[in-house]
Formats: sequence, C-alpha cells, structure tokens
Amino acid sequence: MARPLTATINLDAILNNYRYAKKLQPTCKAFAVVKSNAYGHGAVEVARFLDKEVDAFAVAAIEEALALRHAGVESPIMLLEGVFEADEWALCEQHGFWAALENAQQLSELLSSQVSIEKVFVKLDTGMHRLGVDMDGANDFVDQLRSSGQVGEVLLMTHFACADDLSDMATMEQLAYFERTRQLIGDIPASVANSAAIMKWSVPEGGWIRPGIMLYGISPFADVTGTQLGLQPAMTLSSKVMSVRRLKKGDTVGYGYSYEAQEDHVLATVAVGYGDGYPRHAKEETPLQIAGQSAYLAGRVSMDMITVRMADYHSAPELGQEVVLWGGDVPVEQVAEYADTIGYELVTRMTARPKYRYINNDNSQ
Ligand SMILES: Cc1ncc(COP(=O)(O)O)c(C=O)c1O
Repeated sequence: MARPLTATINLDAILNNYRYAKKLQPTCKAFAVVKSNAYGHGAVEVARFLDKEVDAFAVAAIEEALALRHAGVESPIMLLEGVFEADEWALCEQHGFWAALENAQQLSELLSSQVSIEKVFVKLDTGMHRLGVDMDGANDFVDQLRSSGQVGEVLLMTHFACADDLSDMATMEQLAYFERTRQLIGDIPASVANSAAIMKWSVPEGGWIRPGIMLYGISPFADVTGTQLGLQPAMTLSSKVMSVRRLKKGDTVGYGYSYEAQEDHVLATVAVGYGDGYPRHAKEETPLQIAGQSAYLAGRVSMDMITVRMADYHSAPELGQEVVLWGGDVPVEQVAEYADTIGYELVTRMTARPKYRYINNDNSQ
C-alpha cells in the first residue's frame, strides 16, 4: 500500500513529439530541451530514452548537463545560459558540452582558458533584453571566437519574446534584426526557434531548432491544447479517491470553509495537493475526472489533499476510484487556466513526492 498519486510519463509521446518538431523544420537539427528536470518529467529518464535519437540536448546550466553525463547520456549537451564561472569551460571541454555565450566576461574566460569547445552559440539580443549582445557585439564576438582556433563552429542564436502570440509583430522584428546581423557577419548558422516558432512562424532554414514544451505534448499558445496541435501529451497525473462523504445543501468544506454545497451531493477527497505540485491557486470548477466522469475541484487545495464534486450532482464518487488531475481528457492547459498560469509551470513545478512511472511501447514499468 502506498499513497496512490502517480505521474505517468509516456516516453514514446516525447519521442514522437521530437520527431514531429523535426518534421515541421526538416532542414534543421534539433535540440531536445530537457532543462528544469525535463519540464518536470524527469531529465535523466527522458534523456536516456531519447539519447540514440536526438541531435543534441539543451539544458540551462552545467549542473544539469553533468547530471545527464553521469547518468550515461552520450549525446552532445548545450548550456543555454552558458557558463557561470570560468572553470566550467574546462568541464565543457572534458564532457563535450556546447555553450551559449552572451557576455564579454564569458568570452574572455573562454579565450584565456585555452580549452577547445565544439560549438559555441553567440547570443544576439534581438529585443527581449534579457541576455545577449547587439549586432556589432555579436560580429566582434564571432570574429574573436573564430580567430581563437578554440571553437569548432560558431553559431548565432536568439530567443523570441512573443512567439506564442501570432498577432504580435515583435517576432518579425526580432527575426529581421537577426537576419541583418547574419548579413553583417556573413555565413553563420542560426538557432532561433522555440516550440511556438517551430510550429507557427517561418524560421531560418538549416541550423538548430530548440523545442521544449512541445516535446512534452503541451501547447505554448493560450487558446489551443497540445492535442489540438497534433502533439501527444506525455504526463498523466492521477490519484485515487481516499474518502467520501454525503454533504447537505449549505455544508461547507475545507480551509476557510470556502466551498458551500449548492445542493445535497457526495464529496470526494483525493490524495493530491500543492505539496505534490498541484496548483494551490486552482479555482473551484477546475476540471478533473473521476472514473472517467467529469468532476470539479470544490474548495481550497491543501498540501496533501483536494476535495472534489462530480459535475453531475447526482453521480456519487466511490472510495478507491481513479482520479485524473491532468492528462488524457483533462488537458493540463485547461487546468493551468483555472490556476491563472500556464501548462509550463504546472508540469515544471511537480515535486519529488508523487511516484513517477515511465512507460513506452517496449517496456512498461
Ligand atoms: C533559450 C531557450 N531556447 C528554447 C527554449 C524552449 O522553449 P519552449 O519550451 O517554449 O519550446 C527555452 C525555454 O525557455 C529557452 O530558454
């Protein structure tokens, strides 16, 4: 016996979503972005499964890259935030890591370290003003890197601020600045596209795309789900009904007595809470399913439990019935909307407490 909360991760779905990203941009190579514990899906398990297939992985920083190498992952790994300290360059050489490079300190530390790095991605600030250098800075960085003889290939990268909003022309402006910089530098491969850009924008041919959220079957756009975009959601978060009781109209429930029964009905208590990653700010009426039937959150989310009513007041949940918090017919994007957040945050904030179960066609564990 154990607490029944389980995050089931369908590894085949992630592989298929990676293949789909490459099909959408067939001239490009693709990073599988597995930073932040593969968006909460388990970086080691996901990367081991994809290792033979991907062109390379991308993580935020060296700790994440080292964890993958130590777990036996062999593909190249790119550090999207580059190095934070000078001695990390030697580790990059030793472990075959590639890195983004976004400021003069990183550049001078790389040059004085004298290590050899296979690929360095000079980060161009095309408008997001978070990381990177401007057009002239990028031109200068590329020159210095090329003439150092330390870098196998120098590439130019940028990141979009608004690619999830198809009506926002900022993406076109970012792309135009990127292309002008490429013309100034001359022949240089590009890396610009996150999931939204891969799916909906026209991005430079060749070079490297960087799919993240789409690998996990989740939509980067506000108004559609991953499934509607042809993706396969990878995570199903499920639990069980751990207690049931009959409420009378007017009975109140949970912290702050915030839920009041509008009529007599059966209430289910379910083993999941914000201590597991279920969002505390999820509102009443957040959708879920009990035994395949529509149900709604009723009352505040506790650390370990939630309380739930069936959509149909006359239907009565029973002890031990399966509850789907998200996945399957309960899109995580919809749950996120009821918690005033995005699917990215819900999966990434999953904690270590649920059981993680990895399934694929050959092997279901
Ligand atoms: C530099 C960079 N590239 C690619 C990605 C992947 O983005 P997405 O998950 O929207 O595909 C991220 C994610 O934040 C990123 O920071």
